[in-house]
Amino acid sequence: MTGAKSASSKPQPAGKAAAMCTQAANSHEAAGTSLHTGNGKPVPPGMHEREILRLECVSKLYGSGESGVAAIRDMDFTIHNGELTSVLGPSGSGKSTLLHLMGLLDKPTTGKVYIAGTDTTSISDADQARLRGKMIGFVFQAFNLISSFTALENVELPLMIYDVPKEERRKKATAILERLQMGHRLNHLPSQLSGGERQRVAIARALINDPEIILADEPTGNLDSKTGEEVLKIIEDLHQEGRTIILVTHDESLVKVTEKVVRIRDGRLVKSEVLV
Ligand SMILES: Nc1ncnc2c1ncn2[C@@H]1O[C@H](COP(=O)(O)OP(=O)(O)OP(=O)(O)O)[C@@H](O)[C@H]1O
Ligand SMILES: [Mg+2]
Repeated sequence: MTGAKSASSKPQPAGKAAAMCTQAANSHEAAGTSLHTGNGKPVPPGMHEREILRLECVSKLYGSGESGVAAIRDMDFTIHNGELTSVLGPSGSGKSTLLHLMGLLDKPTTGKVYIAGTDTTSISDADQARLRGKMIGFVFQAFNLISSFTALENVELPLMIYDVPKEERRKKATAILERLQMGHRLNHLPSQLSGGERQRVAIARALINDPEIILADEPTGNLDSKTGEEVLKIIEDLHQEGRTIILVTHDESLVKVTEKVVRIRDGRLVKSEVLV
């Protein structure tokens, strides 16, 4: 792939950006190595064959003119079903912007984002929202829980949008919270929970619609190292059950649990490696 370029916040014309993109150079097939799981076990044959998320020549410019910032530039990569990938880069390199683009929380300035084969840039906002709700769960550094809602209500929230009956919502949310060892804190408010407990509630909320893809932005960033390890263990467990996970971080030490690392700098992909 291309090497890191010097930092420049000058937006580039879309046509120029498109010409610079290269296709599939960073897929694990291109890397020519077989995938292994984070704990060193070979990935069973047949796994990771289905493309689930693809960025094609994606750029994101904030603002315009002299004050414009090219937060993501010419980004191409493919994530396959069941992969646990880390996106690693220093502060300001575009990780959160990239996560928002992959999660359909924001639109690229140029380029395309495919989810399970659907070109999301060519569908309506309502269809994007439906696809996001069905396919993607988010976990954020700051937990992003609603402070006036209990743990249970926070986890139920995504189901309310789909008009799932109360009884069913309660049952589902309770089961997921219990699975994450939060059964004893169902009716606590976020302010009454520890950081690790809050993040477990946020993970439960991300799981409530049983999404195939989990996007996590610095999920251990606000946690002490022991609690961070516990959250990483949950992420590894979710991967073991077959979910596709993209873990965005500046922390090199988190890469150890992942099987592929996408390194970014100044909004560009610097290197994509399969970890064996
Ligand atoms: N809404 C915005 N408007 C203008 N510029 C923005 C906006 N959001 C982000 N940026 C800029 O885009 C670049 C990438 O920001 P981003 O938040 O994606 O970085 P990051 O890698 O997640 O950083 P951190 O590790 O500190 O969270 C930065 O230069 C930032 O200042
Ligand atoms: Mg960020």
